[in-house]
Amino acid sequence: MDQKILSRTIRSSLTTCGKSSNYRFHRVNIPSDYSYRDFETDLTWIMLQVLPTVIARKAYYGRAAVNEAFQKYYAAGLDKSASGLIKGRAVAARKYGLTEHDIADFEIAMFYVAVTNTVPSSFWFLSYVVSSPSLLTEIRAEVSEIVTRKTVNGVDTMEMDITGFQKKCPLLCSAWEETLRLIDSSSSVRMVIKDTMFDDKYLFKAGSVVQMPSGVSHNSPEIWGEDAATFNPRRFMRSEGKQDLAARERRKVQTQGYFPFGGGKHLCPGRHFAFTEVMSFVATLAYGFEISMADGSGSLKLPKPAKQKMGTGTRKPETDVKILMKRREEFKDVKWTYFVGGKVDVKSLSTGEHGAYEE
Ligand code: HEM
Repeated sequence: MDQKILSRTIRSSLTTCGKSSNYRFHRVNIPSDYSYRDFETDLTWIMLQVLPTVIARKAYYGRAAVNEAFQKYYAAGLDKSASGLIKGRAVAARKYGLTEHDIADFEIAMFYVAVTNTVPSSFWFLSYVVSSPSLLTEIRAEVSEIVTRKTVNGVDTMEMDITGFQKKCPLLCSAWEETLRLIDSSSSVRMVIKDTMFDDKYLFKAGSVVQMPSGVSHNSPEIWGEDAATFNPRRFMRSEGKQDLAARERRKVQTQGYFPFGGGKHLCPGRHFAFTEVMSFVATLAYGFEISMADGSGSLKLPKPAKQKMGTGTRKPETDVKILMKRREEFKDVKWTYFVGGKVDVKSLSTGEHGAYEE
């Protein structure tokens, strides 16, 4: 049995995962987690652009260290064996004459968007699932539909079909959507190109900046009902049978008020990646492990969310949680593998296509 600090453990696992899947980390020495964490922690201060070496010292030098590591990575041409995403970005950057330093800066931004929201959202998603024994039992039953036990080269292996979430795990998918509704609080920011009148009432003047914080509509009782502040893992499941007009209207308003990945031209391009990564991660931990409070008080207890920081889209926990984690007896020595070759129903993949799961 291992004692762990949950949020810290998730951060280091998913940061390593993001590095190895995108940049083929095992071949390169790219950003140290500590430098990256320093940058992320004090990002708000560096954004002020006032004496950064004084007021945002950690973030400033953290970013410089990450930049330097990325420069070495690109100078050595290691991007040629990276994922298609990273390769494509490097080709475009070089085509438009960006220097190694510029590419490295762009890549910090990429790394930032790929990791910063995924880590806290995985933390909350896992915490919601394992903190409720009844929900955990139901989720395990769903996950059992997408795992197969087999012997591969003499090794006892559990293979998870990660293309099966939408069809076989509707409750898990709905719980993910609900997690994002409660802890996501990003702002889509847009510039008004020309004077535009909305609803014959509101004039948006050209040149002004509009911010659309998702947290406002995500938490509105008018949209979600009296239990808007409560985690309801079934909220995003489509009910069976024909819905009456009022229920359909309510769904419509909820669809319009739900945008954890932004929208329009800048809709998060990483949302499918995030969905698959977070679902696989949480499904494996919920199904294959027992997680409880380290102080022996039983099921995991959720901490309060911390205040939102400028530049981040998902709230972190106010305090970290000490947990005990052990493999479930029946999966004591198995190796976990993931089947990725099936056909994914991209249309119904997470968010934006709200309520796509059959109950
Ligand atoms: C749970 C995880 C994630 C959340 C909640 C999230 C959320 C968002 C939001 C709200 C935006 C701004 C959209 C807008 O302005 O309307 C965005 C943009 C972006 N995200 Fe994500 N994201 C996540 C994961 C990822 C991942 C894993 C990647 C990459 C692998 C990624 C890459 C990007 C990029 C490149 C943009 C900028 C798009 C643009 O400006 O056109 N995101 N994300």
